[in-house]
Amino acid sequence: MKLQKILIVLGPPGSGKGTQSKLLTDKLGYAYFSMGDTLREYAKIDNDLGREIKTTIDQGMIVSDPVAQRVFEESFDKVKDNVAVIIEGYPRTPGQIEVLKRTLKKFNITQPKVIFLEVDKEKLIRRLVLRSKTEGRVDDSDITPIEKRFEEYSKKTAVAKRYFESQGELIPINGDQPIEAVYKEILSKLGLNE
Ligand code: AP5
Repeated sequence: MKLQKILIVLGPPGSGKGTQSKLLTDKLGYAYFSMGDTLREYAKIDNDLGREIKTTIDQGMIVSDPVAQRVFEESFDKVKDNVAVIIEGYPRTPGQIEVLKRTLKKFNITQPKVIFLEVDKEKLIRRLVLRSKTEGRVDDSDITPIEKRFEEYSKKTAVAKRYFESQGELIPINGDQPIEAVYKEILSKLGLNE
């Protein structure tokens, strides 16, 4: 079996990347790779790498390119034998884009589709504060790491959006709608029926 399709899901913190990726995974039967979830798994391991990742995430910063590359390559290896994969929350920096490009080349994938969820920052902060009450993520627990995630996003991650836009691969989605409506807009823009 050879990897043929990659669907990338990006957006600012709290924009619904995880929520929509899981719905799409169920619908399309693609394998699912979430960089945030994967890093949280690494962060549970009590070794130097795990501790470095945990500190970085808890502060609302993004992990360094070498760490991201190691985690991406190790973890992507586990899903690469599927025909199609949803990649959520990766790439977020120019260095990560280069790693992704090499991966695409290796599998001969020329046109990945990139879903980008757009929602205003103020609304996203409200969502994350609300989630902190139910899920207890350290990086949602206080306004400081939440603000830091937005700062990191506008300083570093917005580059990825501009890159995919320039390649004509970006599919912008209004993420400021009920979950089901966002999902319907994605399916429609991907040309898929419900
Ligand atoms: P990650 O887990 O990806 O965090 P994030 O980007 O801050 O995004 P979130 O997980 O908070 O939100 P989401 O967009 O997935 O939205 P969700 O569906 O959960 O990454 C965590 C950390 O890991 C980063 O800060 C960084 O340190 C590190 N990291 C990750 N990727 C990295 C990379 N590539 N390079 C370097 N470091 C990396 O929804 C959020 C909430 O809103 C939920 O409560 C949900 O129920 C609700 N919700 C969802 N959709 C809607 C809707 N339409 N209306 C109302 N509420 C909604």
